[in-house]
Amino acid sequence: MATRRQLAFFPEYAGEINLPRPVNVASVPQRSPFRYPGGKTWLVPTFRRWVAQLKTKPQLLVEPFAGGGIISLTALFENLVNRVVMAELDEEVAAVWEALVQGEAEWLASRILAFPMTREAVEAELRIPPNTGREKAFQTILRNRTLHGGILAEGSRFIRHGENGKGIGSRWYPKTLARRLADIDHFVDRIDFRCDDGLKVIQQFSERQDAIYFIDPPYTAGGKKAGRRLYKYHQLNHEQLFANCQSLAGDFLMTYDEAEEVKSLARQFGFQMSLIPMKNTHHATMKELVIGRNLSWLDELPTIHEPEADYATGEIK
Ligand SMILES: C[S@@+](CC[C@H](N)C(=O)[O-])C[C@H]1O[C@@H](n2cnc3c(N)ncnc32)[C@H](O)[C@@H]1O
Repeated sequence: MATRRQLAFFPEYAGEINLPRPVNVASVPQRSPFRYPGGKTWLVPTFRRWVAQLKTKPQLLVEPFAGGGIISLTALFENLVNRVVMAELDEEVAAVWEALVQGEAEWLASRILAFPMTREAVEAELRIPPNTGREKAFQTILRNRTLHGGILAEGSRFIRHGENGKGIGSRWYPKTLARRLADIDHFVDRIDFRCDDGLKVIQQFSERQDAIYFIDPPYTAGGKKAGRRLYKYHQLNHEQLFANCQSLAGDFLMTYDEAEEVKSLARQFGFQMSLIPMKNTHHATMKELVIGRNLSWLDELPTIHEPEADYATGEIK
C-alpha cells in the first residue's frame, strides 16, 4: 500500500490527511500517439470520477488545450461522452490530429513501421520540408519521439542516451504506435479537431448545457517550470480563461501547476481547489492543482506513476 498525502485547498478548509493508496497503473491505458510534456495520463482516474458523478451523461467534451489529447481519447474510448471538440494552437501537434481526423491513420502507421530508426535517418527525414499534412504529421511524431522529453518547442535536443542506452530510438515503439493509431481511427468521426485558440473555442460552446470542459492550459510563470519552454505557445491570459470558465453552462475541470497566482485567481472567481499528487519516474511526488466549481466528489484517488514524466522534474538531460 502506498501512502498519499492530500492537501485540500478549499477556501473554507486547509487540512492535511494521510491516506493509504494502492498504485493502479494498469487502469490507465496509454492511448495517445504523443509523449506529451505536461501530459495528463495520471489524471485519468480523477477525470473518470468527475464524469461519473455528473447528474446526466454529457454529450460533448471540449478540450481547449488538447496537446497529446489523452483525456479526450479516454472519454471516447470509454464512452464517457458521445463527441469531443479538441483545440490546439501548435501547428505541428495539430497536423497529427488533423491527419487522423482526415483518415490518415493507416498511412501514418505504415510510415512509422517502415522507418529505419537511426540518428542519421531522423536527421535526413527532418531536413525534407513536408509537402502534405500527413507528412507534417509523420515528422511531428518522429520529432516528438526522438526529442528529449517529447518537447517540440524550439531549443529541444535529441535524446542522446535514453532507455538502456538505446539512444535516439529509446522512445520509438513502432508497433505500439501503429496500434494506437489504428485504435484512434475507430473513433475519428466523433472528433472535431480545431487548430485554434482554446479561449475562443470554449466560448463557442459556452451555452451548451450538455457540454463539459477539461482545461489544461500552458502555465510557465513562477513555480518550478519558470523559464522553461515546454510549448511553442505558452502565453495565455489566465484571468480571461477563468472568466470564460465562469460563464460556462456546463461543468468544467481545470488543472494547473500549483502557483500562488493561480490560487488567487481561483479564489477571486469563487472556484474550489485541490492538490492531486502524482509520482514521476524518479518516484518524487509532484502535485498539481485541480480547480472546479464544486470538488466535493474528489476524495480518495490512487497515486499514479507516470512513466514519461521526467520533464516535470527539472531533470531534463
Ligand atoms: C499543458 S499542455 C496540454 C497537455 C494535454 N492535457 C495532454 O495530456 O497531453 C497545454 C497545451 O496548450 C497548447 N496551447 C497553448 N496556448 C493555446 C491556445 N491559446 N489555444 C489552444 N492551445 C494552446 C500548447 O501548445 C500545449 O499543447
